[in-house]
Amino acid sequence: MSDFAELHYNGEIIKLPVVEGTENEKALDISKLRGQSGLITIDPGYKNTGSTRSAITFLDGEKGILRYRGYPIEQLAEKSTFLEVAYLIIFGKLPNKAELEEWTDDITHHTLIHEDFKVLLEGFPSNAHPMGVISSLVTSLTAFYPESLDPSSSPDEVRTSIVRLMAKLPTIAAWAYKNEIGQPLMYPKNNLDYCGNFLNMMFSTPAEPYSADPVVTNALTKLLILHAEHEQNCSTSTVRIVGSSHASLYASVSAGMNALWGPLHGGANQAVIEMLEAIKADGGDADKYLAKAKDKNDPFRLMGFGHRVYKNFDPRARIIKKAADDVLGKLGVSDPILDIAKKLEESALADPYFVERKLYPNVDFYSGIIYRALGIPTNMFTVMFAMGRLPGWVGQWKEMRENGEPIGRPRQVYTGENERNYVDMSNR
Ligand code: ACO
Repeated sequence: MSDFAELHYNGEIIKLPVVEGTENEKALDISKLRGQSGLITIDPGYKNTGSTRSAITFLDGEKGILRYRGYPIEQLAEKSTFLEVAYLIIFGKLPNKAELEEWTDDITHHTLIHEDFKVLLEGFPSNAHPMGVISSLVTSLTAFYPESLDPSSSPDEVRTSIVRLMAKLPTIAAWAYKNEIGQPLMYPKNNLDYCGNFLNMMFSTPAEPYSADPVVTNALTKLLILHAEHEQNCSTSTVRIVGSSHASLYASVSAGMNALWGPLHGGANQAVIEMLEAIKADGGDADKYLAKAKDKNDPFRLMGFGHRVYKNFDPRARIIKKAADDVLGKLGVSDPILDIAKKLEESALADPYFVERKLYPNVDFYSGIIYRALGIPTNMFTVMFAMGRLPGWVGQWKEMRENGEPIGRPRQVYTGENERNYVDMSNR
């Protein structure tokens, strides 16, 4: 097979090199195309554009495959811990025993946040959405750790910034929630693991200790692992492009959090529950909402369905669906919206509209149902996603820096007015 493609344009033949990845994925390198021909490429939403070469995640949307650093998501979800997966994603290898102990110990001992954060928190109205609060507080870390501002500092400094972010995000997230509901802020406890510590800060009060059921911590661990990394999605691309200007890790990740917030991305888990609640309140008729989703004159979309890259089945959704059944069974929770979700899924999977467009339930169709069963409030769902995705953002930022990638700066095809003269106010 040829290692270039030919583009015939204006009587010229332009050779475009073919780039191949380790899983035989092929791409045309068009980086010199403009210089050779005056042409740029256009691809709104970057649906067919590779922005980088990355060694972190392999995803085959047609076959429903997802691997972090070569390891199948199914094996990691079953056998690993979240901090182990985070290490794998960020540093490129499964940690040995000593490495995992050091990593876990470092993160455990950086969970406290500066007391002045309380002043920042108090400045937010109690009805502030926690995604806005956590992204602001993550940016604020730059003020408390100014040494983090220079992303080209030593690998040790970068590692410290990474440890601080991994360690403090659960504290920031739980404090955002406590501030919202007007309860005293609870401090981290170093004798608890990553998920147990977060749940404790969320649900304990000075009046009432909280002891997390292992079923709950296990389910949360699994959810965080499943969300940990997903190659060049909207929020991760945001992190990389912000970081490409040499903005700091905290500034780049905070930008990614804001990209995640939207209902077409990480905000979908909240939107799914709100949709299921609305269907329940409207009599529970799933078919009526399926018809709305298919009606091109109706803006309603079936939230939690469809995915930019999975045109088969989202492998994470398979694992999560089973986890949802397990958790609800073990906790003895019967949730009427789970029945509506199952009915919607069943009908959609048999409906030609969804089948032809290859629209399947995505990771967030069921994650919200588990979060609800764990007692996590709906407006914290996207925050949970952000906690899970953090290693992915960090790993991609680090890889982008280590690759020495240039500043991200797409081009455009201009469709506005041609040059025209300024019109005086009296003539408009
Ligand atoms: N409900 C109804 N129709 C849908 C849905 C849906 N959820 N998703 C896509 N479609 C239809 C579109 O109307 C379009 O139909 P057409 O070809 O007749 O015009 C076709 O399927 C293709 O849809 P696009 O929007 O072009 O697909 P795209 O890849 O741009 O969008 C997206 C993917 C944003 C995820 C979309 O499927 C969606 O909006 N889903 C609902 C929101 C959601 O669940 N987001 C979470 C994604 S997963 C994540 O971020 C973790």
